[in-house]
Amino acid sequence: MREIETHVAEHYDVKGLRETILQIAEDDLGRLQSDILEAIDEFHLGGAAATARLIDGMGLGQGSRLLDVGCGIGGPARRAARLLDARVTGLDLTEGFVTLAEELSDRIGEGGQTEFQQGSVLDMPFEDGEFDAAMMLHVGMNIADKPRLFAEVARVLRPGGVFAVYDVMRTSETPPQYPLPWAPSPSLSFVDTAQSYRAAAMAAGLEVVKEIDRHAEAEAFLDQMRAIAMQRQAAGQPPAPGVGMVMGADAPQKLANIGQAIRAHHLSAIEIHFRKPGPQERLT
Ligand SMILES: C[S@@+](CC[C@H](N)C(=O)[O-])C[C@H]1O[C@@H](n2cnc3c(N)ncnc32)[C@H](O)[C@@H]1O
Repeated sequence: MREIETHVAEHYDVKGLRETILQIAEDDLGRLQSDILEAIDEFHLGGAAATARLIDGMGLGQGSRLLDVGCGIGGPARRAARLLDARVTGLDLTEGFVTLAEELSDRIGEGGQTEFQQGSVLDMPFEDGEFDAAMMLHVGMNIADKPRLFAEVARVLRPGGVFAVYDVMRTSETPPQYPLPWAPSPSLSFVDTAQSYRAAAMAAGLEVVKEIDRHAEAEAFLDQMRAIAMQRQAAGQPPAPGVGMVMGADAPQKLANIGQAIRAHHLSAIEIHFRKPGPQERLT
């Protein structure tokens, strides 16, 4: 593992995460409740709805072989497996996330459709052309070397395969306040512009299919989380199950900082869909 990757994995390796999730999501008989789990296991702006929108926009057929690049604790991979009746492979740097993703899939009864591996997206342990499609949600902010990231994804996609990115991207020159959900300080943060993603993808031989700015959805999601948190605090209730639980003790500060940067239009959540051309297309 590269030195920076060690630090990124340490950042995400929240102590006691498994116990926190099980305590909230298990019912009296020790079964996992999928509606509670789904509020927690999608570690990106917009949660489950954002994942469903991204997958819908990819236009994949049922049974597609899909890779989730930087899969976290597996929420998006499980959703994709369900929506597409597909087998989904998740790859992530953070060992604890990968182990937990496996356990959660098994316990929710979806272990046969998802598999998770530890590894870096910059050196993927997969064969050339192994996947029909790939998706990546809120991962590029930790990756300095975007040309290598795109080259690796292009390598493991079959010709004609698609790659959907949904990341937090920079939309102004003003730097955000830290900590943020993906980094405690600027040293682990590589938030970039949509233009730099497109350039890196095109250098890897991918073509841009479409780009959609999800700023309004991201802002609405953060506003709703903030309103619910304030209501519950005022009523003396514990926090509602939510993505903040995956962010550790300083989650409120991380969410406040990203909320501020989104509302000020310094950052946005943007989808970009790419496609790897087939060999015939490249000749023309
Ligand atoms: C904000 S989380 C998003 C997780 C997941 N995509 C989701 O939306 O629920 C970012 C994830 O990227 C992973 N990550 C960051 N850099 C990585 C790298 N170089 N290789 C693999 N995974 C990486 C982290 O371990 C973390 O799980």
